[in-house]
Amino acid sequence: MENAIPYENSSLSRRQLLNFLTGATVAATAGSALYPIAQFLVPPREVTEGGGILAKDKLGNAIPASQILAEPPGTRALIAGLASEPTYLTIQMDGSVSPMGIVDNCTHLGCTFPWNPSDQQFQCPCHGSLYAPDGSVVRGPAPCHSRLFMWR
Ligand code: FES
Repeated sequence: MENAIPYENSSLSRRQLLNFLTGATVAATAGSALYPIAQFLVPPREVTEGGGILAKDKLGNAIPASQILAEPPGTRALIAGLASEPTYLTIQMDGSVSPMGIVDNCTHLGCTFPWNPSDQQFQCPCHGSLYAPDGSVVRGPAPCHSRLFMWR
């Protein structure tokens, strides 16, 4: 009987293990439920101190404003905008950047549409929708204005 494991130590150990597993399960469940809420509440890293959004190239590198502003008026600079969506920024005739970005995503079925400088239109290659420089639909089948976002 000297080699027998005392009943109470064994039971206590099992109880501690079950308490630990229960606590770990509760913590994991609560963490997985709270993580999306925390992600929603924390501003994305690409927002600057002034509340602006950094323009990035397709590799995720920040594009200096001077580089965009060096483009000639009428240029559509394709950048990775909000949530890394490809977005056109327009250099206006006065050399400033238009406060409205046009998301490069056709409102018909989501194809990207290139800017055609000779026709002064965005032309979707998938089904032929045409967009005016401000993103409004010139010809369908696109059902509505392209998505815009305003930036500072
Ligand atoms: Fe652009 Fe259909 S996806 S016209």
